[in-house]
Amino acid sequence: MQREIELFVTPGYANFIFGSSISGHRTNLFAMRRAIYPGSFDPITNGHLDIIERGCKLFDEIIIAILINPDKKPFFTIEERREMLTEVIKEIEHHSCRLIVEDFRGLLVDYAVEREADVIVRGIRAISDYEYELQMALMNRRLEPRIETVFMMPAEAYSYVSSRLVKEVFLLGGKIEGLVPASIEALMRKKPTGS
Ligand SMILES: Nc1ncnc2c1ncn2[C@@H]1O[C@H](COP(=O)(O)OP(=O)(O)OP(=O)(O)O)[C@@H](O)[C@H]1O
Ligand SMILES: [Mg+2]
Repeated sequence: MQREIELFVTPGYANFIFGSSISGHRTNLFAMRRAIYPGSFDPITNGHLDIIERGCKLFDEIIIAILINPDKKPFFTIEERREMLTEVIKEIEHHSCRLIVEDFRGLLVDYAVEREADVIVRGIRAISDYEYELQMALMNRRLEPRIETVFMMPAEAYSYVSSRLVKEVFLLGGKIEGLVPASIEALMRKKPTGS
């Protein structure tokens, strides 16, 4: 009995069990797992939603983070995308995972540290995604070794779906049903030429 108590008060072990803070970053084994899923989400597609739904099986909290990129002319404004994301994520199977929508600018790893995230989630559709994503993941690891990147694959049905392609098809009058949620398609119809 005495030995057990001693074991539990050994400082290193106590840290392991109860967690410690390295410059504000959580290392607790049993702590909540917070992931960040960054992207433009212009607009959110069923492929994005598929990744979020799968992520919910792994993480306690996912911050869906819209990157503010002043150099790009978006179809939907940041505010519109925030609203759209907040609405559509209500419809997905998220179990006990908490979903939060935010936006950020600047370095992703700085934002991830600020939000005390453990993981960056990225979706991989094809080998073509992998090359770019690998570069980003390794650079992010170099910048911030405490944050891991987790790659996730969507259902095959979404493996060719991208926001860019959806917009292209939509603007040329093609059918996008089934590629984005119906509510998003309706909003796109209200705004045929983008913002
Ligand atoms: N259909 C999909 N299946 C799996 N992952 C996806 C899918 N669409 C996007 N992702 C992933 O989601 C993340 C955010 O992507 P992003 O917002 O750039 O979407 P996108 O569809 O690639 O948009 P764009 O065409 O504007 O680049 C990236 O990791 C991207 O690879
Ligand atoms: Mg992309």
